[in-house]
Amino acid sequence: MRILSWRLIVALVIGVTLVSVASSWYEVRSQKDALRSDLERKAGTLGESLAATAQLYLLAGDRDGLEEMVERFGNREHLIGIGVYGSDGSVLAITPALNSLMPGSPRILTDSLRANRGESNYMRLHFRRVYVLAMPLHGPRGAVIGGILMAHDTGYIRTEIFLVWGRVFVRIALQVLVIVAITILIVRWSLTKPIARVADWIKALRTGQHAPPPAPSDMDFLLPLTREVAPLARSIQTARGAAATEARLRIANESEWTAQRLAAHVRSRLEGSSLFVVANREPYIHNWRDGVIQMSVPASGLVAAIEPILCACNGTWVAHGSGNADMEMTDEHDRLQVPPDEPLYTLRRIWLSAEEEDGYYYGFANEGLWPLCHNAHTRPIFRASDWEHYYNVNQKFADALVEEIGAEEHPVVLIQDYHFALLPRMVKNRLPQARIAIFWHIPWPNPESFEICPWQRELLDGLLGADLIGFHVRAHCNNFLNTVDHVLEARIDWEHFAVKRNDHTSLVLPFPISVECCDDTGARSGTDVADERRAVLKAAGIEATYIGVGVDRIDYTKGIIERFQAVESFLERYPSYQGKFTFFQLGAPTRTHIKRYADFQAEVEAEASRINARFKRGRWSPIILQVRQHSKQEVQRYYRIAHLCMVTSLHDGMNLVAKEFVAAKQDERGVLILSQFTGAARELRDAIIVNPYDIEATGEAIAQALRMDVNEMTERMRRMRNTIREHNIYWWASSLIGTLCEVRLEQAEQVAVSASDRVTVET
Ligand code: G6P
Repeated sequence: MRILSWRLIVALVIGVTLVSVASSWYEVRSQKDALRSDLERKAGTLGESLAATAQLYLLAGDRDGLEEMVERFGNREHLIGIGVYGSDGSVLAITPALNSLMPGSPRILTDSLRANRGESNYMRLHFRRVYVLAMPLHGPRGAVIGGILMAHDTGYIRTEIFLVWGRVFVRIALQVLVIVAITILIVRWSLTKPIARVADWIKALRTGQHAPPPAPSDMDFLLPLTREVAPLARSIQTARGAAATEARLRIANESEWTAQRLAAHVRSRLEGSSLFVVANREPYIHNWRDGVIQMSVPASGLVAAIEPILCACNGTWVAHGSGNADMEMTDEHDRLQVPPDEPLYTLRRIWLSAEEEDGYYYGFANEGLWPLCHNAHTRPIFRASDWEHYYNVNQKFADALVEEIGAEEHPVVLIQDYHFALLPRMVKNRLPQARIAIFWHIPWPNPESFEICPWQRELLDGLLGADLIGFHVRAHCNNFLNTVDHVLEARIDWEHFAVKRNDHTSLVLPFPISVECCDDTGARSGTDVADERRAVLKAAGIEATYIGVGVDRIDYTKGIIERFQAVESFLERYPSYQGKFTFFQLGAPTRTHIKRYADFQAEVEAEASRINARFKRGRWSPIILQVRQHSKQEVQRYYRIAHLCMVTSLHDGMNLVAKEFVAAKQDERGVLILSQFTGAARELRDAIIVNPYDIEATGEAIAQALRMDVNEMTERMRRMRNTIREHNIYWWASSLIGTLCEVRLEQAEQVAVSASDRVTVET
């Protein structure tokens, strides 16, 4: 840094000096020219008036008059002397000073007489700088009768010029001083100190200490560097976490699943094959905002769960490119390497027209299948045109998937969710050797409910193209098997939980999905959490002692209104918490093109306003509703600072918010209030389990959570964390992929057999 500072300073000093000297040189030159022309003008005027007088004396032959004239005028300002000469150049009258400087008849005078015109020149005479002017004197008819000569001292011009240069150098010196001072300050403020802070941060990361990243202003000019360092830091942290876990596992001889273990496991199970995931929602969306492309991660439990698997196993994710800048970010094959910071797998984007999106996504998937599968009292809507789009879009994804698989001999395909019920059959028909699983992330209803779908047979047939069909819980598997039994001609093997149909077997098994848990490196102390809580409250502009949090897409299945009413009921029954308990609801707008969703968002906002209007006082509010997308980091901050988290879904396949909250609670302080209608309630028995329709009981659960003894709270939290740690997302992926890799591909075998038969017959 010192060398850089010196280089900067020297370069600036030289630059400034050169520019100043060059511009001053012109200034001095023009000053000198001005002084000289002033002198020439004055000398000319004086010369002319003396010449007129001298001519008269000459014509009159009055030498005394001439002498008196040269005496009288010879001591004017800067004038050295005057001389009057005859037409032959002989001296008629001359001042002594001029006589000693230019004795006799000077050449300039004789030249002037000969040429009959005024002559002037700057010259050095006896170490003096002088300006000499010679003029002819004329008789009556213009004849030259003599000459006059004047010499001016020009030394004052030189003195003046020296003074100007002196001022110039003082100015340059001051400029240089100011520039050096400013350079040193800028280097210290903008370079030395920020670099030192960033270096401290990197050092803290390297040594495994918890250190907040430097302020964005510090990072500003180091952005390209920090873009590289931040993922590096994350990788170091992850590696350190993994190493710690490995060490812990070795000591405890346990078998916790980590990204590394999953990667190794999947690689061994895939035996060289690749993993392909199809999910409607993409993990990274690019949109134009204010003229720049911005990337966002959507609020989706599915995305949160699948992303770590792809990162661990590489592979390809095929998804709908739904962002308005998505096309700009992909290559000519519609592919993109992600995560953007540290590319680990391929994202293949599929483009849908607005019409296709309306029919397939908003229509059939979200107005039809979503309410059909969720017991939340919203009537499903089935339109034939939506079904047609659903079919065609499934076909479009099948084409793209087959293209991505290319020549891969034994691909492993994980299809996600209710957007793709037809895809397993479409792919199986074209690639019988592919191992295909579909995981249904939402509940499966009972046969009577499912029956209302006009395309129930097609949906079931499509799903049964998969070798493995996964649900979160056993009850959903049972509902599915019962539905198949009810609707199709198929053999249900209740012993092995399988459906056999047309020589193909589909296993139907529960795989409770989970989250990454639990990296406790960099755990915050109680004081850190309290500071963070104060900061969040300050930013929200409110005062509160206890904090509750809810994190959801604003979906009518999530029980958000019931949750607010439970907060209301709690405040009614326990008025001492008024002014103290605030519930933060982070709500991500979702599927707002659908009227039911748009209406629901308005209902949620109205309910929050109603309750706030009833209780609000001073700087306290009972409910803070934040309707927008929140980053993963923001959500984690709310989890950390919350005393309790409420998950009150009316019906939910699993609900990963419940698990994320528990995973985030490194300090084991916090209580989970969990709806009995979520898949998560089957695993997280240490949550306070509620029926969200029972508003008063859910309000009581808030009171129970806030009054829970610390030992009980930490015990419960520890047990829940152990459950999730044991059954984390890597465990889920390893069980799903492991089971899929073990499935016998009867159809493929048959294809192989019939192919060999054909070969035999032909030969
Ligand atoms: C549920 C579904 C996911 C979906 C998510 C977000 O969790 O099971 O498939 O991605 O909701 O909904 P969206 O319609 O925005 O993808």
